[in-house]
Amino acid sequence: MSKILITSALPYVNGVPHLGHMVGCLLPSDVYARYMRMMGNEVLYICGTDEHGTPSEVGAAKEGMDIGEYCTKYHNRHKEAYKAFNLSFDYFGRTSSPQNQEITYHIFEQLDKNGYIEEKSIKQIFSIDDNRFLPDRYVTGTCPHCGYDKARGDQCENCTKVLDPTELINPRSTISGSTNLEVRETKHLFLKLPLLEAKLAEWVKSKEPFWPDVAYSIAQKWLKEGLQERCITRDLKWGFPVNKPGFEDKVFYVWFDAPIGYIGITKQWADEYPETRNWKDWWLDAKDVRYVEFMGKDNVPFHSISFPATLLGTKENWTLVDYLKGMSYLTYEGGKFSKSEKRGIFAEDAVKEFPADYWRYWLMSNAPESSDSSFSFDLFASVINKDLNGVLGNFVSRVLKMTSSKIGTEIPEGGEFTTAEEELTTALQEKINNYLKYMNELEFRKALNELRAIWVDGNNYISATEPWTVIKTDEKRAACILRTCINLIRIYAILSAPIMPETSEKIMKKLGLQLDDNIKLKDFNAAEEIKALSAGQKFEVGDMLFERITPEKIEELKEKYGSSK
Ligand code: 2FM
Ligand code: ZN
Repeated sequence: MSKILITSALPYVNGVPHLGHMVGCLLPSDVYARYMRMMGNEVLYICGTDEHGTPSEVGAAKEGMDIGEYCTKYHNRHKEAYKAFNLSFDYFGRTSSPQNQEITYHIFEQLDKNGYIEEKSIKQIFSIDDNRFLPDRYVTGTCPHCGYDKARGDQCENCTKVLDPTELINPRSTISGSTNLEVRETKHLFLKLPLLEAKLAEWVKSKEPFWPDVAYSIAQKWLKEGLQERCITRDLKWGFPVNKPGFEDKVFYVWFDAPIGYIGITKQWADEYPETRNWKDWWLDAKDVRYVEFMGKDNVPFHSISFPATLLGTKENWTLVDYLKGMSYLTYEGGKFSKSEKRGIFAEDAVKEFPADYWRYWLMSNAPESSDSSFSFDLFASVINKDLNGVLGNFVSRVLKMTSSKIGTEIPEGGEFTTAEEELTTALQEKINNYLKYMNELEFRKALNELRAIWVDGNNYISATEPWTVIKTDEKRAACILRTCINLIRIYAILSAPIMPETSEKIMKKLGLQLDDNIKLKDFNAAEEIKALSAGQKFEVGDMLFERITPEKIEELKEKYGSSK
């Protein structure tokens, strides 16, 4: 058993998550966590809300709320939405927690002690109309590298280059739109990334065979361009006050304490049961921990460069990322998700329309892995109707209904395996091996293709063997076919569990079984599993697993959530 630490990028607390957020890191990380548990590993799966920074300040002001209460309100909304999607975090914490403050302070002190922190006066943009310094994200302008005209002051979302707001061409305040801006001098603390470059480059190089191309090439590109000193403090009220004399009126930059939040949240988790849990077992001088991170691709530089450099600079033995899964973007009906323009479906609404598994299945089979992918209600309905209803759902209901009406509600007895069953089992083992291989490699679309092919094989098997005809002349043979099909149903439930946990449980319940911790995917042996259920065991037909999505419903959804028109 290995120890697998899994983190999903911490969503900003302000605002509510939409489908793009769900598939951008949360859902894939959950599928992977569930899968790794079923492979018999000890998994710690951590996430939480990223609470500091100006967006929270602005959001709280807009709602006329105290910032702490505002963060709690939205933290709870995130938590509820993820619960409805059945995300199986071991802990969903907060970057504003005292635990995170303690660890952030410790890491900063180490960096300072080791000479990686420098004081510098910088020029910052002050908005005269807003009467405040504008943090990076709140300056918008044209990117000096690619010419994108809506680049944010911290990073250009188009070319992913990290920016300083003073570099932007034609800057304006995102808060008020005012261009009445001036540059003022203020003293800040910088992380001396250039001093850590050699160490970091050596570490990144050691990851080459293991990291996916996209993550490795982003990190290499950054290193090639040379690392710049990075300002880690801000002139804000909301955040952790800087623990250095002379800087108490400033706070740490949100991107300094956010990734440290993975550690802080692990400490929140551990503090709930201090006698049995220890955060250091996962993070500091930890042995045999494999650390896998999930994030949108715009987050890759922070996770492959700034965060590892921060940890390396402490000269302590922190767990560094072993595998980094950077996802591309999901578009909505051909455009962007936009709350203000009321375009796109948000997680909390999505689960009111359809069960979570419909979304989980669609999003994972269309995950934006190697390139962006696009959501539309037409595509969604067609996949649900075809794969879930037509293939999986139909197989389960057809087999159970037929067995119950022709033989009874116990798994039928008699008959021996023939070449048809032998061939089915061989093909099954091959596809299961592929499925497990792709899941291990975090190639989710390919894994789901295999899973679908495994379901299709069941339909082909029953069509080819025709138990409804055979039963008229050879009851034992028909019993063997139907028993094999019922065993396939159980196998489908187990294999589908990381992706559709509720459906898997429903299927197991029909068979009088439970999806408990004893069910493992490791060394999954088709020849054994296809005979796991023996004759005599009771089952129930019950309800259909899925409902068809009608054209009327599709139109209703487009109307409600906005379409490409
Ligand atoms: O892009 C985002 O949504 C950030 N809040 C991700 C932070 S990930 C981690 F570093 F906390
Ligand atoms: Zn750009």
